[in-house]
Amino acid sequence: MNTVFADPPFNLGKRYGQRTNDAKAEAEYIQWCKQWLDQCVRVLAPGGSLFVYNLPKWNIILGAYLMQAAGMEFRHSIAIEMKSSLPIPGRLYPAHYSLLYFSKGKPKTFRKIRTPIELCRHCSGEIRDYGGHRHAMNPLGVNLKDVWTDIPPVRHWKFKSQSRKANALSTKILDRVIEMSTVPGDLVLDPFGGSGTTFAVCEQRDRRWIGIEIDYTAQIIERLRSGDVKHHRNEDVVEEASWPLAAE
Ligand SMILES: C[S@@+](CC[C@H](N)C(=O)[O-])C[C@H]1O[C@@H](n2cnc3c(N)ncnc32)[C@H](O)[C@@H]1O
Repeated sequence: MNTVFADPPFNLGKRYGQRTNDAKAEAEYIQWCKQWLDQCVRVLAPGGSLFVYNLPKWNIILGAYLMQAAGMEFRHSIAIEMKSSLPIPGRLYPAHYSLLYFSKGKPKTFRKIRTPIELCRHCSGEIRDYGGHRHAMNPLGVNLKDVWTDIPPVRHWKFKSQSRKANALSTKILDRVIEMSTVPGDLVLDPFGGSGTTFAVCEQRDRRWIGIEIDYTAQIIERLRSGDVKHHRNEDVVEEASWPLAAE
């Protein structure tokens, strides 16, 4: 496996299918996560990448485990802005999810992604002045940061509203994960398939994939067959010269 992307239930007491208990005791949830993480690390090829999407509360613990016990190499902790969340009494307003990015040893593939220069929604002017160095910037855009504020919410998908309640991620997250860490023909595993977003993006981008899903496999197959996948607009550019990393 060249890349594993895991978006497990967050243990928030959500209703998934009949086989998922999303209200485990905290210690039991962490133990369960460590078990499937071990298997993800096991099946990764040397130099492969592992991405874990979760609440910061859980990813702090899981990231430490991956580094200290599972021998994985830390690459990034990516903050993905939540577009809608509710205030929690006595806490800061939660505004991001965590996407951990590890590699199994030195990464085999890391492709540099550039994103368009940010424009104001109202006047279309550029938001930042880049410290007076705007003229020297790469016309393809700026280097992808580890804070992603441009991920659109997933709404009104026929699949999401009618067939299941579980969260479907934006295809833009998977576009980035897959383009950054794999090349066409590589193999991607998603052990928590959900609505099949990872698989749809792999199909679109010529990656091979293996999926695991405990409850919704029929819906995933139907979604992929019917093409009911709304790919979010994505203006990222992959800098082809940025891989392979062997020369580094
Ligand atoms: C947060 S959702 C994943 C959403 C997915 N990333 C998407 O974009 O559609 C988590 C999924 O994990 C599945 N799941 C829960 N426990 C599982 C297990 N032990 N093995 C496989 N899948 C499981 C649930 O049924 C649910 O569909």
